[in-house]
Amino acid sequence: MAERTKAHEMAEKQREISVSEFFAKNRHLLGFDNPRKALLMAVKEAVDNSLDATQEAGILPDIYVELQQIKEDRFKVIVEDNGPGIVKEQIPKIFGKLLYGSKFHRLRQSRGQQGIGISAVLLYGQLTTGKGMHVTSRISPKHQAHYFEIHLDTQKNDPIIKEDKTVEWKKEHGVRIEVELQGTYQKGKQSVDEYIKEIALINPHAQITYRTPEKETLTYARVMNELPKEAKEIKPHPYGVELGVLIRMMQSSSAGTLSAFLQGDFSRISQQLAHEICEKAKLNPRARPSTIARDEAESLFGSIQNTKIIAPPTDCLSPLKEEALIKGLKKEINAEFYCAVTRPPSVYRGNPFLIEVGLAYGGSLEKEEHIKIMRFANRVPLLYQQGACATTESIMDTAWKSYGISQSKDSIPVGPVIVVVHMASVWVPFTSEAKEAIAHYPEIIKEMKLALQEVGRQMASYIRKNVRAREQQERINLFEKYIPELANSLSNLTGEKKEKIQEELEKILKKNMKDLLSDVKEAEQTEIKGKNVAFGEKQTTLGDTDAS
Ligand SMILES: Nc1ncnc2c1ncn2[C@@H]1O[C@H](COP(=O)(O)OP(=O)(O)OP(=O)(O)O)[C@@H](O)[C@H]1O
Ligand SMILES: [Mg+2]
Repeated sequence: MAERTKAHEMAEKQREISVSEFFAKNRHLLGFDNPRKALLMAVKEAVDNSLDATQEAGILPDIYVELQQIKEDRFKVIVEDNGPGIVKEQIPKIFGKLLYGSKFHRLRQSRGQQGIGISAVLLYGQLTTGKGMHVTSRISPKHQAHYFEIHLDTQKNDPIIKEDKTVEWKKEHGVRIEVELQGTYQKGKQSVDEYIKEIALINPHAQITYRTPEKETLTYARVMNELPKEAKEIKPHPYGVELGVLIRMMQSSSAGTLSAFLQGDFSRISQQLAHEICEKAKLNPRARPSTIARDEAESLFGSIQNTKIIAPPTDCLSPLKEEALIKGLKKEINAEFYCAVTRPPSVYRGNPFLIEVGLAYGGSLEKEEHIKIMRFANRVPLLYQQGACATTESIMDTAWKSYGISQSKDSIPVGPVIVVVHMASVWVPFTSEAKEAIAHYPEIIKEMKLALQEVGRQMASYIRKNVRAREQQERINLFEKYIPELANSLSNLTGEKKEKIQEELEKILKKNMKDLLSDVKEAEQTEIKGKNVAFGEKQTTLGDTDAS
């Protein structure tokens, strides 16, 4: 008999790891690393899905969220929407299988993209309470509502259906989920309350009702009656595809020829361009894509990189736009000045994206604290990992001092400001599966900085025109008030007549006032000049004060 080696011994322990087992052990990768965050993740995954589904179906969202405290550290999360519902056959897999969804294989701007979100909530709930998820769904008034209780078999990564029945439901269409999980509820930064407030700000077309664990009902009213512009699906841009992906695409393509494959499976490749690429790679455009060998694929890949191909289409992006951003800010934040900038679309790794920034200044905002940063990706608030996010780097890299806000070198500035940064893209490059921070692509950081500079300049202009003048006037008033008293003391000291001294002091004040006011004017002039130079090409900015 052959000798039994260490390798044989090790072989006995080697086996497949199911994706559910992996994520059950590494739940922090999905954002479930502590009970407070877990409660937030459950609400967030469900609400994000409801907003995606209603948007895709062209329905103005009406979403209900409820948190019921069952024990000290146990909650029931309920989320209900008026979306298109989910067909009965799909329900078990959607909720009871990780990596199952409709968004991963498409390049389309949506909140979800991985097909993990809601099943991760079920997995976490089941791990911490032993209970499954209760799902009710109805797809039209003509169909009956279906109710399921679903668990997840972590070894197989498959759903287990515990109950399946039709039920009465007064809703005509939509989805309702209920899940129990271990969690803790705390108000403040990074809380469910904060998430709901921010999601309402960035989705002014949504109506959200939130019942807190303290049984208080908060309503975030809809402030816009139009749905966001439809986000179109696009094909990948050739520049954004890696060699391995190109090979896989060729193997699974239904195209009969290499030329048809290049034209049909990518964006921006015409017949002429497809032939040019094949020619450069010394490949026959009529060859079957599945017969292309690895080294041939490599020369095809090189040839793509060396061919000039126009940037991907950008009508696939659905930004909020300045007006909606300002409306959202005004709804949630009490400030004195608001402005917003939507940048033109740009591209990273072949993926179109767009940055927009909103800013609120003054009013009830705290003067002595770091400015507040609100980060959003495809209209979803990002509440964790601020330090690791491209947004934060861009803010720290912007020279806020020149916009009238104090800042120590390369850090978050201090002042009465809230900055909202929104990235819209067909694929947001998150730093992890928990979708908490945006990766540091230079193209993304550059766009963020340009947008921040534009709102910074508008704020600086407002500060110079209004705030500085107001402060100078306050100083002048204060001085004016003390002139008679000062004249009196000086008269006692010098023996000069009080009236004469007072007259002289008033003259000095008048002269200084003139100088001060002309300083403010001059600053304004310089600001306007600077603006003309910087935005000579295109102005896509809106500024708005609360008074207007
Ligand atoms: N409320 C809902 N209404 C209609 N369809 C839904 C709803 N919730 C989920 N779905 C469908 O279930 C799929 C899986 O949802 P899931 O949250 O697991 O993944 P995802 O949203 O695609 O990506 P991510 O992991 O980034 O959240 C979605 O792609 C969508 O097709
Ligand atoms: Mg999702």
